[in-house]
Amino acid sequence: MAGVQVANLSRSFGAHKALDDVSIDFADGGFYALLGPSGSGKTTLLRQIAGFDFPDSGRIAIGGESVERVPVEKRRIGMVFQNYALFPNMSVADNVAFGLSVRGEAKATIASEVQRALDLVQLGKLGARRPHQLSGGQRQRVALARAIVTKPRVLLLDEPLGALDKALRVDMQIELKRIQREIGITTIFVTHDQEEALTMSDRIGILRDGRLVQEGPPEEIYDKPKSEFAATFLGDANILRGETTGTGIRLADGTAIAAGAGATLAAGAKASCAVRPERIRIGTDSGTSDPNANMLRGQISKRIFAGNNSTYFVDRDGQTIKVIVQNTGVEKLAEGQKVVLRWSPESTVLIAASQDMD
Ligand SMILES: Nc1ncnc2c1ncn2[C@@H]1O[C@H](COP(=O)(O)OP(=O)(O)O)[C@@H](O)[C@H]1O
Ligand SMILES: [Mg+2]
Repeated sequence: MAGVQVANLSRSFGAHKALDDVSIDFADGGFYALLGPSGSGKTTLLRQIAGFDFPDSGRIAIGGESVERVPVEKRRIGMVFQNYALFPNMSVADNVAFGLSVRGEAKATIASEVQRALDLVQLGKLGARRPHQLSGGQRQRVALARAIVTKPRVLLLDEPLGALDKALRVDMQIELKRIQREIGITTIFVTHDQEEALTMSDRIGILRDGRLVQEGPPEEIYDKPKSEFAATFLGDANILRGETTGTGIRLADGTAIAAGAGATLAAGAKASCAVRPERIRIGTDSGTSDPNANMLRGQISKRIFAGNNSTYFVDRDGQTIKVIVQNTGVEKLAEGQKVVLRWSPESTVLIAASQDMD
């Protein structure tokens, strides 16, 4: 097993920078999610690590060993893609055996390793079937068994669950996590699904236009986004804009918003505050239970009931603020009602102005 380090990796296609000076340390045995919109460079980064494509500059190491000049087949990497093509006229077992056969392993070794891999993905009894006799989720498991049977040092997964429907996808997320833990393999998982990234990984890197905009544990990125892009791409966020007071901002109407985390800024500069919808309390009273809380007044323009929670859209001063509350059964707030919003400075992140603000 081995960790992967990429340092100052750049790769351009013509004038387009698909990867722009990306450095990431993928810990040995870790589950790392690469998250970003379509075209942000996620697949390009995986292809550099696998050796299907080569960077213009930068370094790649696997298990501390430089692999820039090492060909694909010698890097000992397992890969699964969204369009994991299985061989249609070969049995499940033969599909999984393929990599070992190519290597020229002994028949008995192949048989026992294939069985072990199929057991791991819970397809131990289906080795004789053909791919068309399997469900989409089962085929995806075959692709996974095929990727791990050769005992790779690193597992690269490029949107492997993208073709599955929602329920199956959630099952496979749990399954994939279990398998990864069981064999303890360093895994780099590409997704554009933020929920998938949050629930599965122990670290997340967010890519945008070939640049790594932020990386860290899921909670850290969620609680302390460094840009409006990170705040809104990973989870939902209300963005309030104004001028900094150093520790918060002043909105156009003069209201001060205090922040508990984020950038340290010189007073007077343009900046914004990000607040998660579920951190805001909504009510009709104007009591002062928490004198330090940020407060805004507005009017409910819309309420969306979603069973266990409701989302309120509250209009104030030309902006709509989203608030999510758990439904306790005593909620009496209706569309058109005037409300008071309160949330603590600790739930408010100060973000410096950047080209990000659009
Ligand atoms: N072989 C290639 N030739 C030209 N452009 C490419 C090639 N591979 C990727 N790109 C471009 O690089 C950018 C990043 O692509 P990709 O890494 O596939 O994004 P993602 O996987 O995040 O959706 C895109 O703009 C894409 O069009
Ligand atoms: Mg891709």
